[in-house]
Amino acid sequence: MSETIRIIRPDDWHLHLRDGPMLKAVLPETTQHFARALIMPNLEPPVISSQDAQSYRDEILRAIPEGSDFEPRMTLYLTEETDPDDLAKAYNSGLIIAAKLYPVGATTNSFSGVRDFDKVRAVLDRMAKIGCPLCVHGEVTDPNVDIFDRESVFIDKILTPIITQTPGLRVVVEHITTKDAVDFVLAHDKDLAATITTHHLFINRNHILVGGIRPHYYCLPVAKREEHRLALCAASTSEDHRFFLGTDSAPHLDHLKEAACGCAGCFTATNTMPLLAHIFEQANALLNLEGFSSRHGADFYGVPFNTGQLTLEKTDAPVRFPKSLTTPQGDVTVFDPGVEIYWQVAKE
Ligand code: DOR
Ligand code: ZN
Repeated sequence: MSETIRIIRPDDWHLHLRDGPMLKAVLPETTQHFARALIMPNLEPPVISSQDAQSYRDEILRAIPEGSDFEPRMTLYLTEETDPDDLAKAYNSGLIIAAKLYPVGATTNSFSGVRDFDKVRAVLDRMAKIGCPLCVHGEVTDPNVDIFDRESVFIDKILTPIITQTPGLRVVVEHITTKDAVDFVLAHDKDLAATITTHHLFINRNHILVGGIRPHYYCLPVAKREEHRLALCAASTSEDHRFFLGTDSAPHLDHLKEAACGCAGCFTATNTMPLLAHIFEQANALLNLEGFSSRHGADFYGVPFNTGQLTLEKTDAPVRFPKSLTTPQGDVTVFDPGVEIYWQVAKE
């Protein structure tokens, strides 16, 4: 019999679903393997009020394939105008389970994000009081800061003061890409956690830039040097509860990525679980895959583990994943890990 590994059904604690036809096209890719996902609010226009979150949640629920028990978990997009009462209402009613902080201009649809962090002090204090986690896109946008340093500078200049000034605030540093971020999380207690994407476990900056520019590997935060990728692999596979899966799977139409000014994002919803099995196997840590993808995040967000299981099986031949997903508006390229993968999700 071929090798298999059976894990509690996983959660994706950082996912972009978009809306409209794109939502309908990409959602089944996630619901086929994941029981829950934390849905990012960077729509155009963004999900900034409890009412926006309610309508977006309803739209997602309507798009869930029949027979699936997938549960979207919602976030609110923090702006300098966010009303702490509205946020508290959304959190206390269970409509949202976190709020997302985008520094203005840091990434896709972040133009309503925060420019002056003092202007969100009251909201952050309220979040600390009610226990609502803050998910952060941890990059500064100062044009004078080199793009490869933007995460570590954010940690020093923005995140450290926020944490010091807001005792009790629970923070998830999203899609970390540096050893600096890993070390920062390790130096704190359980109120600080980090998500790690699938693609950052596979690519370093050479994959994007050597031998021609590869727009499908361009995402934000941009992949860094190999030493950083290795630090992310070590953290993910370590069974440390502060690190968990948030794929940041971010669909963009191919013509918008393969352009003079291409969009940031890797679409990994389709093949994330087999790719993770590969990484964990390489690290001799297959038994830790369940913690990273199914337990640590649930523990952080204080929700029960999923019922049901997902089985991954080793294959004799390399698995051929679809190259792209067809949507009514065009194709979305599926992330290519660049190495042969010998794992697939077993049909139950
Ligand atoms: O690469 C990215 N794509 N990083 C983000 O932070 C946002 C995302 C998107 O929404 O496309
Ligand atoms: Zn994201």
